[in-house]
Amino acid sequence: MIKKGIILAGGKGTRMSPLTKAVNKQLLPIYDKPLIFYPLSILMLANIRDILIVVNKGQLDQYKKILPDGKRLGIKISYIEQDKPRGLPDAFILGEKFIGKNNVSLILGDNFFYGQYLSERLKDSVKLSKGAKVFLHRVSHPERYGVAKVKNNKITIIKEKPKKYISDLAITGLYFFDNRVVKLAKKLKPSKRGELEIVDLLNKYKRVNKLSADYIGRGGSWLDTGSISDFYKTSDFVSVIENRQGFKIACIEEIALNNKWIKRKDIIKSIKFYGKCEYSNYLKKLIKHR
Ligand code: DAU
Repeated sequence: MIKKGIILAGGKGTRMSPLTKAVNKQLLPIYDKPLIFYPLSILMLANIRDILIVVNKGQLDQYKKILPDGKRLGIKISYIEQDKPRGLPDAFILGEKFIGKNNVSLILGDNFFYGQYLSERLKDSVKLSKGAKVFLHRVSHPERYGVAKVKNNKITIIKEKPKKYISDLAITGLYFFDNRVVKLAKKLKPSKRGELEIVDLLNKYKRVNKLSADYIGRGGSWLDTGSISDFYKTSDFVSVIENRQGFKIACIEEIALNNKWIKRKDIIKSIKFYGKCEYSNYLKKLIKHR
């Protein structure tokens, strides 16, 4: 059972400058909450309570203001700084001590997932004992992502941002790995763009037939919030769903309460923490009848 998760929340954010000059991208809003709440909620839905957040050197204080240590949520949050964006697999090198002898999940801080049966799929994925698992999703611009070609339910090719079409299945930023990932990440060499590549790591598992895939599916959404227009589109999506249905996406306190990790009194602490705001009003409603 995977009990540990890493959120990769550093990166230069250059595509979103000047917004990201002073504030890290993952702390900018997606509608009514910071982007980081969304990947964090995914790990919590997967029942992962021990979470390491990788942040840029010098930005730790920004994160600690909004997500201090996780106690309020019944989880444990720790941080590690990355001095420069060496690539996604660097998470496993930086996180070696945190991972210890365990298996681990990685989620990218700028990825947004939403959909029916997602929680069940996540809870199933953390059962992984050997190998690696990725989530795939059909997209109209596969050249912007890591891409997988699948034949007879098996991944046959994986490539980072292929210029020539190989498939329209993007590899989303949610990964599950066995403990060998630390050793394998350390063996990687930087690519032409000077980064350690997640596809190189996944290829190591593929070569020994230890890479499996699941799908977000048609009923689900996956959005990568890489650019300013993605931010607005994702915000619109959240706003439409929340205002229509009256519940919030990625309300981390609600997930913690439903998982029975916290009690009414902890929600009251959160209301005090956030102060008078629409988010607190939602939390008040949650405990009204409990
Ligand atoms: O979003 C899914 C895609 O994410 C995958 O399909 C690709 O295979 C994968 O390489 C990645 O591509 P991106 O080009 O979107 O990765 P990006 O460099 O934008 O980084 C993703 C997040 O991870 C972002 O929030 C910044 C953070 N990051 C990135 C790097 C390279 C770090 O914290 N440290 C890093 O060293």
